[in-house]
Amino acid sequence: MWTLEIEPDGPASAAAAPGQFNMLTAFGVGEAAISLSGDPAEPGRLVHTIRAVGPVSHALAQLRPGAALGLRGPFGAGWPMAEAAGRDVVIMAGGLGLAPLRPAIYRLLAERARYGQVQVLYGARSPADILFRRELESWRRRLDVEIEVTVDHAAVSDWRGHVGVVTTLLGRAAFDPANTVALVCGPEIMMRFCAAALGDAGVKAEAIHLSMERNMKCAIGLCGHCQFGPVFICRDGPVFRYDQVAGLLRHKEL
Ligand SMILES: Cc1cc2nc3c(=O)[nH]c(=O)nc-3n(C[C@H](O)[C@H](O)[C@H](O)COP(=O)(O)OP(=O)(O)OC[C@H]3O[C@@H](n4cnc5c(N)ncnc54)[C@H](O)[C@@H]3O)c2cc1C
Ligand code: FES
Repeated sequence: MWTLEIEPDGPASAAAAPGQFNMLTAFGVGEAAISLSGDPAEPGRLVHTIRAVGPVSHALAQLRPGAALGLRGPFGAGWPMAEAAGRDVVIMAGGLGLAPLRPAIYRLLAERARYGQVQVLYGARSPADILFRRELESWRRRLDVEIEVTVDHAAVSDWRGHVGVVTTLLGRAAFDPANTVALVCGPEIMMRFCAAALGDAGVKAEAIHLSMERNMKCAIGLCGHCQFGPVFICRDGPVFRYDQVAGLLRHKEL
């Protein structure tokens, strides 16, 4: 996993809302959608966290300090921070899904008094895969936020924490389901299980928000590449209410 901090060389782009993404170009290779993962209070620092899975993300991950890349954005509808005000907030992240949620966590902590209980539940594959580990540890020292981390598997010698999928943390979290907004990001199967577990806990589908991923090209609602049933992920999302996409999620790819 690689985190790039990009300094604009020209007019700075508009400040991004938590959950929005940019299109990053590795010159000569191509372009990919990458979420902003930095602090929204520092709009001049464009932070992106990348997992190298294919040609573009590999090329981006290999950039050295001072290298140039292309950037356009920010795009998309982000996390419903205004709707969350005055309510409990449950964040459920899986793997790299913590990166697009990180700006929302910064915002919640910066404006802590505006929200009720704040729960951050994070699941990684193994202790070595835990993203932003030092930051999670420092947030955990705060008395006004609950941070729970679990791993799918670990050797007893290197992990004393919770083992199990992220939904197992939900039972330990204190929140009022009738007055909760849930923000969920991770692999699609994980989001489906989280939404089901949140629903079982009493959180309404309209209050559960998921960030969806599909391959993108134009990112401005023109090419149809990111079509997801009746919606375009780039224009109408990437963050959607669960009741709007639940039917579509059942199909692996549309
Ligand atoms: C709104 C949005 C936000 C994103 N944010 C991030 C981010 O913060 N960090 C990050 O690393 N990536 C992010 N992605 C995913 C990234 O845009 C894709 O993985 C992109 O395809 C990478 O390009 P590539 O050329 O490296 O790989 P490709 O050649 O496009 O793909 C390589 C392999 O990865 C698989 N793959 C491609 N896209 C996805 C996907 N979306 N989910 C799962 N598997 C996929 C392909 O099937 C293939 O096997 C985001 C995508 C969207 C739509
Ligand atoms: S990427 Fe072109 S319509 Fe969404």
